[in-house]
Amino acid sequence: MNRDAMPSRYLKYTAAIVASIALTACSAPSEDSAGSETAQMGAPLEGADIGGPFELVNKDGETVVWDDFEGKYRIVYFGFTYCPDICPNDVQRTIRGLNMFAQRQPERASRVQPIFISVDPERDTPSIVGEFAAAFSDNLIGLTGSHEQVKQAADNFRIYYERGQDTPGGGYLVDHSAIVYLFGPAGEPLATLPADQGPEAVAAELAKWVS
Ligand code: NI
Repeated sequence: MNRDAMPSRYLKYTAAIVASIALTACSAPSEDSAGSETAQMGAPLEGADIGGPFELVNKDGETVVWDDFEGKYRIVYFGFTYCPDICPNDVQRTIRGLNMFAQRQPERASRVQPIFISVDPERDTPSIVGEFAAAFSDNLIGLTGSHEQVKQAADNFRIYYERGQDTPGGGYLVDHSAIVYLFGPAGEPLATLPADQGPEAVAAELAKWVS
C-alpha cells in the first residue's frame, strides 16, 4: 500500500481503531481487577480486544493456529508479498530491530516469534509467502490461507484490507492497515512496534516489554 494515497475510509477506520485501543487501554485498571493489580506499568494495548484465534497455513501447507505460539512473545504484521513499498520496509525494519535486540538480549529475544500474515490469499500461496518471509529472516514465519481464514484472522487483529488499484501488467495493490503488533506469551496484546521510526526504535520498544 501507499501511505500517501490512503483512502479516507482507511483513515477513518484507523482513527476508530486507535480511539478504541486508547479507550480500552485507559480503562484497563478497572475495579474488577483492583485486588490483583500490580505496581507494574500497564502495556499500551493491555486489555485491548486484539488478536485471538486464527487458523492459517504455513509455507509447507500445514495448518497453524494462534495457540501454537503459546509461551512465545509474538510480533504480528499483516501485509502482502507483492506490496511495492510499505510492507517490505516495515518487515525489514522490524526484523532488523529484533536482530538488534537479540544482539543485546539474546535470551529474551529467543522468546520472540515474528509472524507475517498475508492479506492477499489470491496470489500469496504458501510457497510465495514462505519465500517472502525467508528473504528477511530464517526466523520469520509467513502465513496465508483461504479467503475466509485470512478474513477471520484480519478481523480478530482489527486489520482492514481491501483490493486496491490495478497495476500495469495485470496486477493490483491491496490497501491495508500497516500495524506491527507485539503480543505476550499468553497471546495478550502489549504494544505496537514503531517500524516507521526505524530498527533502533523497534529494538527499544521490544526491550520495554519482552522479559
Ligand atoms: Ni503494503
